[in-house]
Amino acid sequence: MRRPIIAGNWKLNKSIREAIDTVTLLKRQLADVQAVDIVVCPVYTAIADVAEVLSETAIKVGAQDVYWEDKGAYTGEVSAPLLKEAGAQYVVIGHSERRQFFHETHETVNKKTRAALKAGLTPIVCVGELLSEREAGRTFGVVGEQLKGGLAGFTADDLKQIVLAYEPVWAIGTGKVATPQQAQEVHAFIRKQLTEGWGAEVAQAVRIQYGGSVKPDNIAELMREPDIDGALVGGASLEAGSFADIVKNAVVVGVR
Ligand code: 13P
Repeated sequence: MRRPIIAGNWKLNKSIREAIDTVTLLKRQLADVQAVDIVVCPVYTAIADVAEVLSETAIKVGAQDVYWEDKGAYTGEVSAPLLKEAGAQYVVIGHSERRQFFHETHETVNKKTRAALKAGLTPIVCVGELLSEREAGRTFGVVGEQLKGGLAGFTADDLKQIVLAYEPVWAIGTGKVATPQQAQEVHAFIRKQLTEGWGAEVAQAVRIQYGGSVKPDNIAELMREPDIDGALVGGASLEAGSFADIVKNAVVVGVR
């Protein structure tokens, strides 16, 4: 059974005050929505306050990254148990911006995902090809390698705790959303890889989000595709009204 899941990745935006104001509005606007899992991912410094505001609601909080060691001499890093303590229940791992700007590799994605699971956080593991890779006909090859490396060594039970996000890099922040057919094609490929690696039951259970220029007016057509189970939203998640509309418009299909 796959329940739709919409997550807002705020990236490096919003002060603590602004984050609190946004979720205070969201809390009101989304009070009646029950059919969708909803997550917001603020910067580290706002996680605890945002979690506090959302504590009596169904809206969950996520982090945007995590380090794989629990503690020690790793200046500047934040570990999974600390994120949990601050109130996070999800964590985005392997976002293309981290792969591009911060040297994230398949191996670090794998270690971070393992650490998140160990701490009881739900990892949202991101994959996706560059425009040049798509144009060279390498989309499936690139996404297949990201899945293989990022998820190596995980059991079927592990996989059931993981959310995947397909974010074609060319669609992120560009206003150039993948067509529902383009997205569905890759989502189906990802589910096929899951079937081959962990069996049909696991593949049918894992939720796969689409990310890249998702807006209130394109979410419904994406959600109608059989293998798209939600969205990871950047720009349009920053404003409470547009994120709330995305969540509401995502309810075109129930649990599948
Ligand atoms: P945009 O929705 O701004 O394209 O960003 C997508 C994204 O990177 C979410 O993680």
